Amino acid sequence: MQQNILYFLCYNTLVMNYETLKKQIEELARIAGKKILSADAAALHDVTITTKSSRRDLVTSMDLAIQRMLMTELKKLVPECCFLCEESVPEMEDAIITDADDIARGICFIIDPIDGTSNFVHGNRHSCTSIAMVQDGAAQIGVIYDPYRDELFSARKGFGCSLNGEKLPVFDASMKNEITVFGTAPYDDSTNGPTFRLAEMLYELSSDVRRTGSAALDCCWTACGRFGLYAELSLSAWDFAAGKLIAEETGCIVTAIDGQPLTFKGKPSILCGRPTAVREFSEAEWRL
Ligand code: IPD
Ligand code: CA
Ligand code: CA
Repeated sequence: MQQNILYFLCYNTLVMNYETLKKQIEELARIAGKKILSADAAALHDVTITTKSSRRDLVTSMDLAIQRMLMTELKKLVPECCFLCEESVPEMEDAIITDADDIARGICFIIDPIDGTSNFVHGNRHSCTSIAMVQDGAAQIGVIYDPYRDELFSARKGFGCSLNGEKLPVFDASMKNEITVFGTAPYDDSTNGPTFRLAEMLYELSSDVRRTGSAALDCCWTACGRFGLYAELSLSAWDFAAGKLIAEETGCIVTAIDGQPLTFKGKPSILCGRPTAVREFSEAEWRL
């Protein structure tokens, strides 16, 4: 009996702490969004742009500034945490992990300071900040903020997902009359052929197809029903960690494209959609 009461108290403390932490992460995502908008307003030539692995793989001084700010502030909230994140911040290297196996224990924040960097650089105004809190290997909190639309998607595992504080409904749907979305996996040219066959297949299975340039927002827009299905052949954990939880909390199934579990390791593919849409995708005859 005493053990049960203790368990109940511990569980409630944990749940309350998660709720507080989610609000704090939401605040930080909004601060990141203000930074993104400030660059927009101040004209983009104030932002330094460099390439990483290829001419398509860009990083700006704003990506780095936001990541630094998020890591510093999150460390204050959870001092023992580690980070899996897109950009390298040398002065905080000790807290950054590169092997997803290390996420298996403790609290890790998976961060993409700007998802949609290419959109940001070209003034396309479709980018966001994505933050997931993972405990002992499982995402517990997912927050994605789109500053251009002032849209905050926020989810807690088992407690649903909200958009600007309004709970999103859980529903199932076919993709036949929906718009679907694909990503071009731009940092891996070996996927070019299969990617455009995938786009053709989605076009045939749905009413039309889009390419937005932000994987995190593709997950969110699928979660809230603007897209009927999202697929892409190669992503990193920071592109989808928060979006996966957000989509799952609205009843979506999120896996690798072959239906295998989606893990934070390597550069997996993603398939994100309602159960019926995912079934339609899996049953379609197609070859990448
Ligand atoms: C990219 C975007 C894009 C997706 C790429 C991602 P970044 O992230 O999410 O939509 O196609 O695979 O890497 O570089 O803008 O943070
Ligand atoms: Ca990204
Ligand atoms: Ca990024």
